[in-house]
Amino acid sequence: MGGWKGLVREYGDWLDLRGVTDVVTLLEGNTPLLHAERLSERVGADVWLKLEGLNPTGSFKDRGMTMAITKAKSAGATTVVCGSTGNTSAAAAAYAARAGMGCVVLVPEGKIALGKLAQAIVYGAEVVQIRGNFDRALNLARELTQHMPITIVNSINPDRIEGQKTGAFELVDELGDAPDILAIPVGNAGNISAYWRGFTQYHFAKKSATLPKMWGFQAAGAAPIVLGHRVDEPETIATAIRIGNPASWVPALEAVDESHGAIRAVTDDELLDAWSFLARHESVFCEPASAASVAGLLKFGVPAGSRIVCVLTGNGLKDPDTAVSRAATPVVVDSSIEALLAHLS
Ligand code: F0G
Repeated sequence: MGGWKGLVREYGDWLDLRGVTDVVTLLEGNTPLLHAERLSERVGADVWLKLEGLNPTGSFKDRGMTMAITKAKSAGATTVVCGSTGNTSAAAAAYAARAGMGCVVLVPEGKIALGKLAQAIVYGAEVVQIRGNFDRALNLARELTQHMPITIVNSINPDRIEGQKTGAFELVDELGDAPDILAIPVGNAGNISAYWRGFTQYHFAKKSATLPKMWGFQAAGAAPIVLGHRVDEPETIATAIRIGNPASWVPALEAVDESHGAIRAVTDDELLDAWSFLARHESVFCEPASAASVAGLLKFGVPAGSRIVCVLTGNGLKDPDTAVSRAATPVVVDSSIEALLAHLS
Protein backbone atom coordinates (compact mmCIF):
# COMPACT_ATOMS: atom_id res chain seq x y z
CA MET A 1 0.00 0.00 0.00
CA GLY A 2 1.34 3.42 -0.93
CA GLY A 3 0.79 6.72 0.84
CA TRP A 4 2.71 8.84 3.30
CA LYS A 5 4.42 6.79 6.01
CA GLY A 6 5.35 9.54 8.45
CA LEU A 7 8.49 11.63 8.31
CA VAL A 8 10.85 9.20 10.07
CA ARG A 9 10.31 6.60 7.37
CA GLU A 10 10.01 9.08 4.48
CA TYR A 11 13.20 10.99 5.39
CA GLY A 12 15.03 8.13 7.13
CA ASP A 13 18.14 8.54 4.95
CA TRP A 14 18.58 12.08 6.27
CA LEU A 15 18.03 11.34 9.96
CA ASP A 16 20.19 9.83 12.67
CA LEU A 17 18.33 6.59 13.26
CA ARG A 18 21.08 4.69 15.04
CA GLY A 19 19.59 2.30 17.59
CA VAL A 20 16.02 2.66 16.34
CA THR A 21 14.06 -0.57 16.58
CA ASP A 22 10.48 0.64 16.41
CA VAL A 23 9.15 3.83 14.78
CA VAL A 24 6.47 5.68 16.76
CA THR A 25 4.42 7.71 14.29
CA LEU A 26 1.04 9.34 13.84
CA LEU A 27 1.83 9.99 10.14
CA GLU A 28 2.95 13.55 10.86
CA GLY A 29 4.58 15.85 8.30
CA ASN A 30 3.74 16.28 4.60
CA THR A 31 1.76 19.40 5.53
CA PRO A 32 0.22 21.64 2.85
CA LEU A 33 2.11 24.57 1.34
CA LEU A 34 -0.57 27.07 0.45
CA HIS A 35 0.06 29.99 -1.86
CA ALA A 36 -1.10 33.20 -0.14
CA GLU A 37 -2.75 35.21 -2.90
CA ARG A 38 -3.77 38.32 -0.99
CA LEU A 39 -0.71 38.47 1.21
CA SER A 40 1.52 38.19 -1.85
CA GLU A 41 -0.34 41.08 -3.44
CA ARG A 42 -0.09 43.16 -0.28
CA VAL A 43 3.67 42.78 0.23
CA GLY A 44 4.65 42.60 -3.46
CA ALA A 45 6.28 39.19 -3.28
CA ASP A 46 5.45 35.53 -3.75
CA VAL A 47 4.38 34.25 -0.32
CA TRP A 48 3.58 30.67 0.71
CA LEU A 49 2.16 29.41 3.98
CA LYS A 50 3.41 26.13 5.47
CA LEU A 51 0.40 24.85 7.39
CA GLU A 52 1.97 23.07 10.35
CA GLY A 53 -1.31 23.30 12.24
CA LEU A 54 -2.48 20.35 10.13
CA ASN A 55 -0.13 17.93 11.88
CA PRO A 56 -1.80 15.20 14.00
CA THR A 57 -1.81 17.21 17.26
CA GLY A 58 -2.15 20.54 15.49
CA SER A 59 1.40 21.89 15.59
CA PHE A 60 4.92 21.47 14.19
CA LYS A 61 5.95 19.81 17.45
CA ASP A 62 4.83 16.46 16.04
CA ARG A 63 7.87 16.47 13.72
CA GLY A 64 10.27 16.55 16.63
CA MET A 65 8.18 14.32 18.81
CA THR A 66 7.96 11.36 16.42
CA MET A 67 11.79 11.31 16.45
CA ALA A 68 12.22 11.96 20.18
CA ILE A 69 9.72 9.29 21.26
CA THR A 70 10.97 6.81 18.65
CA LYS A 71 14.53 7.17 19.96
CA ALA A 72 13.51 7.22 23.63
CA LYS A 73 11.47 4.05 23.22
CA SER A 74 14.24 2.28 21.33
CA ALA A 75 16.64 3.23 24.14
CA GLY A 76 14.34 1.57 26.67
CA ALA A 77 12.87 4.69 28.29
CA THR A 78 9.46 4.25 29.92
CA THR A 79 8.57 7.85 30.85
CA VAL A 80 9.21 11.27 29.29
CA VAL A 81 8.96 14.82 30.60
CA CYS A 82 8.79 18.30 29.10
CA GLY A 83 8.28 21.87 30.18
CA SER A 84 5.96 23.57 27.74
CA THR A 85 3.89 26.56 26.74
CA GLY A 86 1.37 23.97 25.49
CA ASN A 87 2.11 22.51 22.08
CA THR A 88 5.10 20.44 23.11
CA SER A 89 3.05 19.00 25.95
CA ALA A 90 0.20 18.05 23.60
CA ALA A 91 2.61 16.34 21.21
CA ALA A 92 4.58 14.61 23.97
CA ALA A 93 1.37 13.32 25.55
CA ALA A 94 0.07 11.97 22.23
CA TYR A 95 3.28 10.24 21.10
CA ALA A 96 3.95 8.83 24.58
CA ALA A 97 0.44 7.37 24.61
CA ARG A 98 1.04 5.85 21.18
CA ALA A 99 4.28 4.31 22.45
CA GLY A 100 2.71 3.04 25.68
CA MET A 101 4.98 5.29 27.73
CA GLY A 102 4.29 7.58 30.67
CA CYS A 103 4.41 11.35 30.21
CA VAL A 104 4.82 14.22 32.68
CA VAL A 105 4.21 17.75 31.41
CA LEU A 106 5.04 20.94 33.29
CA VAL A 107 3.15 24.03 32.14
CA PRO A 108 2.99 27.63 33.41
CA GLU A 109 -0.13 28.03 35.55
CA GLY A 110 -2.91 29.91 33.74
CA LYS A 111 -0.73 30.70 30.71
CA ILE A 112 -1.48 27.81 28.40
CA ALA A 113 -4.17 27.95 25.71
CA LEU A 114 -7.27 25.91 26.50
CA GLY A 115 -7.04 23.50 23.56
CA LYS A 116 -3.47 22.52 24.43
CA LEU A 117 -4.34 21.86 28.05
CA ALA A 118 -7.32 19.76 26.93
CA GLN A 119 -5.08 17.71 24.63
CA ALA A 120 -2.47 16.93 27.28
CA ILE A 121 -5.18 15.86 29.73
CA VAL A 122 -7.15 13.72 27.27
CA TYR A 123 -4.05 11.96 25.88
CA GLY A 124 -3.47 10.90 29.48
CA ALA A 125 -0.36 12.80 30.54
CA GLU A 126 0.36 13.73 34.15
CA VAL A 127 -0.21 17.47 33.81
CA VAL A 128 1.40 19.69 36.44
CA GLN A 129 0.90 23.46 36.50
CA ILE A 130 3.93 25.37 37.74
CA ARG A 131 3.72 28.64 39.67
CA GLY A 132 6.14 30.30 37.30
CA ASN A 133 6.74 30.82 33.60
CA PHE A 134 7.96 28.49 30.83
CA ASP A 135 11.63 29.12 31.56
CA ARG A 136 11.12 27.88 35.11
CA ALA A 137 9.11 24.85 33.91
CA LEU A 138 11.91 23.88 31.51
CA ASN A 139 14.52 24.17 34.27
CA LEU A 140 12.40 21.95 36.51
CA ALA A 141 12.02 19.36 33.74
CA ARG A 142 15.81 19.28 33.37
CA GLU A 143 16.26 18.94 37.12
CA LEU A 144 13.72 16.15 37.30
CA THR A 145 15.86 13.99 35.02
CA GLN A 146 18.50 14.00 37.76
CA HIS A 147 16.08 12.65 40.35
CA MET A 148 14.27 9.91 38.45
CA PRO A 149 14.68 7.78 35.32
CA ILE A 150 12.87 10.02 32.84
CA THR A 151 13.81 11.31 29.37
CA ILE A 152 13.44 14.98 28.54
CA VAL A 153 11.72 15.67 25.20
CA ASN A 154 12.14 19.42 24.99
CA SER A 155 14.13 20.70 22.02
CA ILE A 156 17.32 20.53 24.11
CA ASN A 157 16.95 16.85 23.21
CA PRO A 158 18.80 16.69 19.84
CA ASP A 159 16.30 14.17 18.44
CA ARG A 160 13.65 16.88 18.46
CA ILE A 161 15.72 19.17 16.23
CA GLU A 162 16.47 16.23 13.93
CA GLY A 163 12.76 15.60 13.36
CA GLN A 164 11.88 19.26 12.94
CA LYS A 165 14.47 19.85 10.22
CA THR A 166 12.26 17.80 7.86
CA GLY A 167 10.06 20.87 7.46
CA ALA A 168 12.88 22.40 5.40
CA PHE A 169 13.20 19.22 3.31
CA GLU A 170 9.52 19.33 2.44
CA LEU A 171 9.79 22.96 1.31
CA VAL A 172 12.73 22.27 -0.99
CA ASP A 173 11.13 19.08 -2.34
CA GLU A 174 7.95 20.96 -3.16
CA LEU A 175 9.34 24.28 -4.43
CA GLY A 176 12.27 22.70 -6.28
CA ASP A 177 14.71 24.91 -4.35
CA ALA A 178 14.91 26.81 -1.06
CA PRO A 179 12.82 29.99 -0.82
CA ASP A 180 14.63 33.35 -0.71
CA ILE A 181 13.35 33.97 2.82
CA LEU A 182 12.01 31.70 5.54
CA ALA A 183 9.89 33.64 8.05
CA ILE A 184 9.24 31.89 11.36
CA PRO A 185 8.14 32.69 14.92
CA VAL A 186 10.81 32.31 17.61
CA GLY A 187 10.16 31.23 21.18
CA ASN A 188 12.59 28.73 22.62
CA ALA A 189 14.42 29.07 19.25
CA GLY A 190 14.54 25.34 18.43
CA ASN A 191 12.52 25.49 15.23
CA ILE A 192 14.52 28.21 13.47
CA SER A 193 17.67 26.21 14.31
CA ALA A 194 16.08 23.01 13.00
CA TYR A 195 14.97 24.54 9.69
CA TRP A 196 18.46 25.95 9.15
CA ARG A 197 19.97 22.53 9.77
CA GLY A 198 17.58 21.02 7.22
CA PHE A 199 18.28 23.67 4.59
CA THR A 200 22.07 23.42 4.97
CA GLN A 201 22.03 19.62 4.95
CA TYR A 202 20.03 19.54 1.72
CA HIS A 203 22.16 22.28 0.18
CA PHE A 204 25.45 20.49 0.85
CA ALA A 205 23.94 17.34 -0.62
CA LYS A 206 23.06 19.44 -3.71
CA LYS A 207 19.34 18.97 -3.30
CA SER A 208 18.97 22.76 -3.41
CA ALA A 209 20.98 25.36 -5.31
CA THR A 210 20.40 28.13 -2.78
CA LEU A 211 19.96 28.76 0.94
CA PRO A 212 17.26 31.04 2.37
CA LYS A 213 17.69 34.04 4.62
CA MET A 214 16.30 33.10 8.02
CA TRP A 215 13.93 35.74 9.38
CA GLY A 216 12.80 35.05 12.94
CA PHE A 217 10.16 37.04 14.81
CA GLN A 218 9.65 37.32 18.56
CA ALA A 219 6.78 38.98 20.42
CA ALA A 220 7.90 42.42 21.62
CA GLY A 221 7.16 41.58 25.27
CA ALA A 222 9.16 38.36 25.04
CA ALA A 223 12.06 39.28 22.77
CA PRO A 224 15.30 38.33 24.57
CA ILE A 225 17.24 37.61 21.38
CA VAL A 226 16.27 40.96 19.86
CA LEU A 227 17.16 42.79 23.07
CA GLY A 228 20.35 40.81 23.59
CA HIS A 229 19.50 39.87 27.17
CA ARG A 230 17.25 37.53 29.14
CA VAL A 231 13.72 38.74 29.90
CA ASP A 232 12.69 37.74 33.43
CA GLU A 233 8.98 38.47 33.08
CA PRO A 234 8.07 37.77 29.43
CA GLU A 235 4.56 38.84 28.47
CA THR A 236 2.55 38.44 25.27
CA ILE A 237 -0.90 37.34 24.17
CA ALA A 238 0.91 34.71 22.07
CA THR A 239 1.41 32.35 25.02
CA ALA A 240 3.20 29.78 22.82
CA ILE A 241 6.21 32.11 22.56
CA ARG A 242 6.03 33.70 26.02
CA ILE A 243 9.66 32.80 26.71
CA GLY A 244 12.40 34.93 28.27
CA ASN A 245 15.50 32.72 28.04
CA PRO A 246 15.47 30.53 24.91
CA ALA A 247 17.35 27.23 25.19
CA SER A 248 18.50 27.34 21.53
CA TRP A 249 19.60 30.99 21.61
CA VAL A 250 23.11 30.26 20.27
CA PRO A 251 22.16 27.99 17.32
CA ALA A 252 19.40 30.45 16.39
CA LEU A 253 21.92 33.29 16.20
CA GLU A 254 24.22 31.11 14.13
CA ALA A 255 21.37 30.39 11.70
CA VAL A 256 20.66 34.10 11.38
CA ASP A 257 24.33 35.07 10.96
CA GLU A 258 25.18 32.35 8.46
CA SER A 259 22.09 33.03 6.37
CA HIS A 260 22.38 36.86 6.55
CA GLY A 261 18.95 36.92 8.15
CA ALA A 262 17.57 38.69 11.21
CA ILE A 263 15.53 38.24 14.36
CA ARG A 264 13.16 41.12 15.00
CA ALA A 265 10.15 41.89 17.21
CA VAL A 266 6.46 42.44 16.48
CA THR A 267 3.98 43.86 18.98
CA ASP A 268 0.88 41.97 20.12
CA ASP A 269 -1.29 44.34 18.08
CA GLU A 270 0.75 43.71 14.93
CA LEU A 271 0.63 40.01 15.58
CA LEU A 272 -3.15 39.98 16.05
CA ASP A 273 -3.70 42.11 12.93
CA ALA A 274 -1.73 39.57 10.89
CA TRP A 275 -3.60 36.69 12.55
CA SER A 276 -6.92 38.25 11.64
CA PHE A 277 -5.77 39.03 8.07
CA LEU A 278 -4.77 35.39 7.56
CA ALA A 279 -8.20 34.15 8.63
CA ARG A 280 -10.22 36.72 6.68
CA HIS A 281 -8.20 36.88 3.48
CA GLU A 282 -6.36 33.56 3.22
CA SER A 283 -8.88 31.41 5.14
CA VAL A 284 -6.14 30.12 7.40
CA PHE A 285 -6.91 30.03 11.11
CA CYS A 286 -3.59 29.73 12.91
CA GLU A 287 -2.78 30.42 16.53
CA PRO A 288 -1.62 33.93 17.47
CA ALA A 289 2.08 33.01 17.86
CA SER A 290 2.13 31.54 14.36
CA ALA A 291 1.09 34.86 12.85
CA ALA A 292 4.35 36.46 14.05
CA SER A 293 6.00 35.47 10.78
CA VAL A 294 3.35 37.23 8.70
CA ALA A 295 3.27 40.22 11.06
CA GLY A 296 7.00 40.55 10.45
CA LEU A 297 6.60 40.70 6.67
CA LEU A 298 3.86 43.30 6.97
CA LYS A 299 5.87 45.41 9.43
CA PHE A 300 9.32 45.35 7.89
CA GLY A 301 8.52 44.80 4.19
CA VAL A 302 10.26 42.35 1.85
CA PRO A 303 12.44 42.55 -1.27
CA ALA A 304 10.14 42.96 -4.30
CA GLY A 305 9.34 39.74 -6.10
CA SER A 306 11.14 37.47 -3.61
CA ARG A 307 9.91 33.99 -2.82
CA ILE A 308 8.97 33.68 0.85
CA VAL A 309 7.66 30.89 3.06
CA CYS A 310 5.95 31.71 6.37
CA VAL A 311 5.83 28.78 8.77
CA LEU A 312 2.40 28.80 10.45
CA THR A 313 3.35 26.70 13.43
CA GLY A 314 0.05 25.88 15.13
CA ASN A 315 -3.70 25.52 14.58
CA GLY A 316 -6.07 28.35 15.56
CA LEU A 317 -8.40 25.92 17.32
CA LYS A 318 -5.73 25.54 20.00
CA ASP A 319 -6.59 28.94 21.42
CA PRO A 320 -10.35 29.55 21.26
CA ASP A 321 -10.24 32.00 24.18
CA THR A 322 -8.17 34.57 22.33
CA ALA A 323 -10.35 34.22 19.25
CA VAL A 324 -13.65 34.61 21.07
CA SER A 325 -12.50 37.33 23.47
CA ARG A 326 -11.44 39.51 20.53
CA ALA A 327 -14.84 39.39 18.86
CA ALA A 328 -18.23 40.79 19.80
CA THR A 329 -20.59 38.11 21.14
CA PRO A 330 -22.73 36.93 18.20
CA VAL A 331 -26.23 38.39 18.17
CA VAL A 332 -29.21 36.29 19.37
CA VAL A 333 -32.59 36.54 17.59
CA ASP A 334 -35.95 34.75 17.92
CA SER A 335 -36.21 31.62 15.83
CA SER A 336 -38.49 33.15 13.19
CA ILE A 337 -37.78 34.22 9.64
CA GLU A 338 -39.17 37.67 10.45
CA ALA A 339 -36.66 38.19 13.26
CA LEU A 340 -33.82 36.90 11.11
CA LEU A 341 -34.74 39.15 8.17
CA ALA A 342 -35.14 42.11 10.51
CA HIS A 343 -31.67 41.55 11.82
CA LEU A 344 -30.08 41.11 8.40
CA SER A 345 -31.83 44.04 6.74
N1 F0G B 1 4.79 28.60 17.41
C1 F0G B 1 4.11 27.80 18.25
C2 F0G B 1 2.68 27.54 17.95
C3 F0G B 1 4.78 27.20 19.35
O1 F0G B 1 4.09 26.40 20.15
C4 F0G B 1 6.13 27.50 19.57
C5 F0G B 1 6.84 26.92 20.71
C6 F0G B 1 6.79 28.33 18.66
C7 F0G B 1 6.08 28.87 17.60
C8 F0G B 1 8.22 28.69 18.80
O2 F0G B 1 9.04 27.63 18.45
O3 F0G B 1 10.24 27.38 20.59
O4 F0G B 1 11.07 26.28 18.52
O5 F0G B 1 11.21 28.76 18.79
N2 F0G B 1 6.28 26.25 21.63
C9 F0G B 1 6.99 25.53 22.70
C10 F0G B 1 6.03 24.66 23.48
C11 F0G B 1 7.88 26.37 23.51
O6 F0G B 1 6.28 24.38 24.67
O7 F0G B 1 5.04 24.22 22.93
P1 F0G B 1 10.49 27.49 19.12
